[in-house]
Amino acid sequence: MLFPYLKYTHVTTVVITALLFLLRLRWALTAPARLQKGWIRIIPHVNDATLFFTGLGMAVLLHQYPFVNGWLTAKLTALLGYIILGTVALKRGRSRRQQVIAASLAILCFTYIVGVAITRDPRSLLLLFA
Ligand code: HEM
Repeated sequence: MLFPYLKYTHVTTVVITALLFLLRLRWALTAPARLQKGWIRIIPHVNDATLFFTGLGMAVLLHQYPFVNGWLTAKLTALLGYIILGTVALKRGRSRRQQVIAASLAILCFTYIVGVAITRDPRSLLLLFA
């Protein structure tokens, strides 16, 4: 059965993504030159691709699809927001203030995505208070 392996890999890459984001944010704010060279330019992309394709693999196995099932539509939409806000935080932000605001919103998106994944509901973690 492939599903548990996909899920284990998916959740591992979720944790790695979060850690790499926090590390890159720290460097973006304190030592941006470190983001330009070496493994930090490659590993996040490999990890993100693994995250994406394991998610897609599970979606196929579960017969649940974005733009068909609400929770996956919400997840993918929030993922788009996370990616855009993440680039502003790490690269495109014109000031420290812009970077910090974008990073905070990106972390909010990420938390929302994890909540949607766990609850399988677009209301995400708000469900816990319902
Ligand atoms: C930053 C992006 C993502 C994060 C943080 C994330 C997070 C998670 C987490 C934490 C789980 C485990 C939930 C549990 O324990 O039940 C999960 C499961 C899952 N994810 Fe993701 N995910 C992301 C991207 C994606 C993408 C792009 C897809 C598909 C297009 C996807 C599809 C799935 C599916 C199908 C499951 C299995 C749900 C279940 O077993 O009920 N994920 N995700």
